[in-house]
Amino acid sequence: MKDLKWDKDRLYQLVRGKLGDYSFVVISNREPYIHTMSGGKIVWNRPVSGLTEALDPVMRAAQGTWVATGMGDADKKVVDDHNRVAVPPDKPEYSLRRVWLTEEEIKGFYLGFANEALWPLCHVTFFTPPIFRETDWNTYKKVNQIFAEAVSQEVAGGKAMVLVQDYHFALLSRLIKEQNPKITVGQFWHIPWPTHEIFRTCPWQEEILDGLLGNDLLGFHTQSYCDNLLETAEHSLGAKIDREQSAVVHRGKTTLVQPFPISVDFDWLSREADNEAVVREMEKMSRQFNLKGKYVGVGMDRMDYTKGIPQRLQALEKFLERFPDYRGKVVFIQAGMPSRTQIESYKDIGQEIEDLMKGINDRYGTDSWQPVIPMTKQLTPSALAALRRLANFCVVSSLHDGMNLVAKEFVASRIDGDGVLILSQFTGAAAEMGEAILINPFAIDEFARKIKEAIEMPEPERRRRMKAMQKTVASNNIYRWGGSMVSKLISMAGV
Ligand code: G6P
Repeated sequence: MKDLKWDKDRLYQLVRGKLGDYSFVVISNREPYIHTMSGGKIVWNRPVSGLTEALDPVMRAAQGTWVATGMGDADKKVVDDHNRVAVPPDKPEYSLRRVWLTEEEIKGFYLGFANEALWPLCHVTFFTPPIFRETDWNTYKKVNQIFAEAVSQEVAGGKAMVLVQDYHFALLSRLIKEQNPKITVGQFWHIPWPTHEIFRTCPWQEEILDGLLGNDLLGFHTQSYCDNLLETAEHSLGAKIDREQSAVVHRGKTTLVQPFPISVDFDWLSREADNEAVVREMEKMSRQFNLKGKYVGVGMDRMDYTKGIPQRLQALEKFLERFPDYRGKVVFIQAGMPSRTQIESYKDIGQEIEDLMKGINDRYGTDSWQPVIPMTKQLTPSALAALRRLANFCVVSSLHDGMNLVAKEFVASRIDGDGVLILSQFTGAAAEMGEAILINPFAIDEFARKIKEAIEMPEPERRRRMKAMQKTVASNNIYRWGGSMVSKLISMAGV
């Protein structure tokens, strides 16, 4: 049977046709719409996020409820007595239920347990060990309970399907099931799952696994993260594993564990890249940074120690040292969006990156040439598309990364069919994008040679590889991710 292309409309129709009298609830820490004060007025906007993009058609079709932490300074001003606001604010189709957390709760739940314990635990980065504070764990448990109560109020004992997002809510699905066993619950874990040897360093490994196995369906980006989860459940809990079905039986209940590789809205990104504003941005950047006639490399990341930005800069320096003919001819633009800046390890990585860039520019720069150009402010979608289109090569050098959407955004924006992707083999994306130049970001000398290989790759070869990657990402797009997971959940609910 021909595998139909997934798009917004198909996802909408699927949910409309199949959901029947079930309500649909999504839970995430970040909210899909945020209200803030600007010049004395309330304004709203949508975070640029693949997740929101994929689940928006589902929510519209289901007229469902999205439960998330209220973070905007005007969020409280627009909700009703039940803390709900109809969204999209300009054309309401579903409900956003906001949960309010105190500063203490955010500190322990989000900054503490989610981002100082679970994030480094699941990303094996060697140098940033997880911090397991009992106080953070207790707050994490409390916040998961607060969300469970909010979900229970929204579902009100009726028939429902619930889709929980990410590592902020490892305990939530079990709590939802305890309140109402008839609800079908799925969860997508957006970051890697480590091996048992790593995971068992967590003092609360059993509770976390027990919480996750409250799900009927548990999704990861790749089969190898699913395998790690099965192995961890077997060793930590003594759970029964059905490898053929990719399922765990625990406390008499089966959880299906399956890969759903997340992606981007390929068609939208390609269309967006092909507009006048992007061309103007490209011309502006080219003038401003003196890019004409140069080989341009780009890196675009959330400033996170998992992204391998120091390794990337060390490889660039090694490249300039080993291949002096390229001095004056290559410019590398490093765009970094500040992230989680209250956490010590994130402050440290910001400083380390700044020092490395300055070092390269001091040692190699001349009056007419700056080898590395830092961009630290938030860039508009047009500016990001311009950077992707200007690049001769794009570097994604994560030390460990669940998927990495920068790699997919890059190929979606290359409407000229050209450009080379240098991609870490430790990203989920590498499993789908074998035509990239795959690197080990820890092997700096080899990484430096791969930069040279990217610059010198003949045009027909560049185009052949880009075309293959575009075909993959266009088909495995964000709507396939949402559609496959929601279809699975619907079939498990027996609708
Ligand atoms: C990762 C996580 C998401 C998270 C995003 C941004 O992709 O999987 O859940 O929203 O990073 O991080 P932040 O802490 O700013 O929400």
